[in-house]
Amino acid sequence: MKKIIFLWVVLSFFLGNYLNASADVQAEAVGLQVPLVTNIFARPSITLCGQWNYIVDPLENGYYDYRRKPWTTNGFFENKKPANPSELVEYDFDTSPTMNIPTDWNTADEKLFFYEGTVWFKKSFNYQHKSGKKAVLYFGAVNYDAKVWVNGRKVGEHVGGFTPFNFDVTEILKDGDNFVVVKVDNKREQDNVPTLNFDWWNYGGITREVLLVEVPDTYIEDYYVQLAKGEAGLIEGWVKLNEAKAGVEVIVDIPELKLKQTLKTNADGKAQFAVKAKPELWSPENPKLYKVTVSKADETLYDEIGFRTIETRGREILLNGKSVFLRGVSIHEEAPFRQGRAWSEADAHTLLSWAKELGCNYVRLAHYPHNEHMVREAEKMGIMVWSEIPVYWTISWENADTYKNAEAQLRDEITRDRNRCAIIIWSVANETPHGEARDKFLSSLAKYCHVNDPVRLVSMAMEVTSTTSGNLNRLQDNMHQYVDVVAFNEYVGWYRDTKAARNMVWEIPYEKPAIISEFGGGALQGWHGSADQRFTEEFQEDLYKANVDMFERIEGLAGTSPWILMDFRSPRRQLFGVQDFFNRKGLVSEKGIKKLAFYVMKDWYEKKKNNK
Ligand code: GCU
Repeated sequence: MKKIIFLWVVLSFFLGNYLNASADVQAEAVGLQVPLVTNIFARPSITLCGQWNYIVDPLENGYYDYRRKPWTTNGFFENKKPANPSELVEYDFDTSPTMNIPTDWNTADEKLFFYEGTVWFKKSFNYQHKSGKKAVLYFGAVNYDAKVWVNGRKVGEHVGGFTPFNFDVTEILKDGDNFVVVKVDNKREQDNVPTLNFDWWNYGGITREVLLVEVPDTYIEDYYVQLAKGEAGLIEGWVKLNEAKAGVEVIVDIPELKLKQTLKTNADGKAQFAVKAKPELWSPENPKLYKVTVSKADETLYDEIGFRTIETRGREILLNGKSVFLRGVSIHEEAPFRQGRAWSEADAHTLLSWAKELGCNYVRLAHYPHNEHMVREAEKMGIMVWSEIPVYWTISWENADTYKNAEAQLRDEITRDRNRCAIIIWSVANETPHGEARDKFLSSLAKYCHVNDPVRLVSMAMEVTSTTSGNLNRLQDNMHQYVDVVAFNEYVGWYRDTKAARNMVWEIPYEKPAIISEFGGGALQGWHGSADQRFTEEFQEDLYKANVDMFERIEGLAGTSPWILMDFRSPRRQLFGVQDFFNRKGLVSEKGIKKLAFYVMKDWYEKKKNNK
């Protein structure tokens, strides 16, 4: 018997290496994508960040032959080298330029500033298998369409530019040298999420970290620990393994609360608990985080979790049972100073420090899930978060695949951040046109949130684009019945009714909290002049003064998040010498210089903080 097993081991070793070695293996690994592995930065990993070779491929020549048929061999994914000097191979990653990943290609290579299409990336790395361990290849985000090969074998694909994904590549890796190739295509398509038209730069590339994560063969895939809905005295949660395995002991330990739950997984590989506890509650004034370990015999995950309740009562938002006014600001994932896609802890700290300086206890992270560092930094700094999927403007509401894509992005956003107490609102859309198909699409997403994450609020940014009659602005959107918080964007003083804000009257006919998710206007930092001159700092300052005066007359307003903290790149802003492909509605310029309107908002928030 032993002889047979020995022979089998030897045979499978050589067979495995043969398959890997013949990089032109046609068999596409049937998607090796596995459910998201959460709390990724707490796990042992090899970073694959750093210099990746890249090849720009506008006609997707590395993926299709000249008859537009996908290559099974000869594709760039093989990372082929000529077997002899006479062999024709018309690409070579190793002599191609490199980009320092994570980054967007638009700011990494000035020739690619406007580029929308395919770029191939390749990274070589060394790996040694360890017995009892698996290797999970993790991408924090790739915008927009990613196809991934390891050692020339397809491991899977992913669409969506702002959510993580990962593959179990254990069987494909070799001991020694390996390489990963990623085809990234950021072309905009009508049926994508977001769709063809949006007001931010379409930064393409591997825009967040890439890690090779080492997990035990049976690993803790995900877990949840939080106060039960509306119960400040009961902590509940669960631990989920990567496989349906019963009887595995898992432990959830919160030493400071003297709370230790020793559990056994059920047949689904899941264990649940609920235990009375009186944690110090997380709030902007006291962003208390507890050290939490989730472990089993061969694996320990460290996390920091805040405990809080978030609910509504009539037109009020209640944090830990107390009414709170959301003193917010909207933020795009635009890197301060260097521009490009923000991704790092440093970027997050800079942006959120400006929000703090403004007097914020809340931020609207628009219009897509931001990187995990941004959410964790907000948690540490005591800033509540609105997190949003890019169901933006005129989406293909009738397309089933478009809906699946949107729901997948929502699923992955919730999975990654369900333990992040700072997130109080999931937003399912921004400025979408009224209609039956849209209501069906969005109400299904809202329901998905309520079912899969009942302890948070659901909202969406609606619009009020004109006065109903006279100076009356009435919010009217059928979606009010599906969300917990009604939010709307208004641009009185910029896109409409310039200088009329002081006469405006508002009617919000829904017995729910209402927040203004966007308002504002543009200014080129440093351009001073008359308050009637569009794009001067004085024009923006006067617009802000008129708007905050107007807000004082809106009964029961529960929060505001002006558009926007910092100027950001947009291909829709072409006014030469003023916009130069920047949306200039920032309260801070892209160089970090505050405009006059920043101080109008800061003063108003100071007042709100003291009397609310
Ligand atoms: C809209 C939209 C933003 C956009 C802003 C603007 O409300 O939600 O994404 O940038 O207006 O026009 O500046």
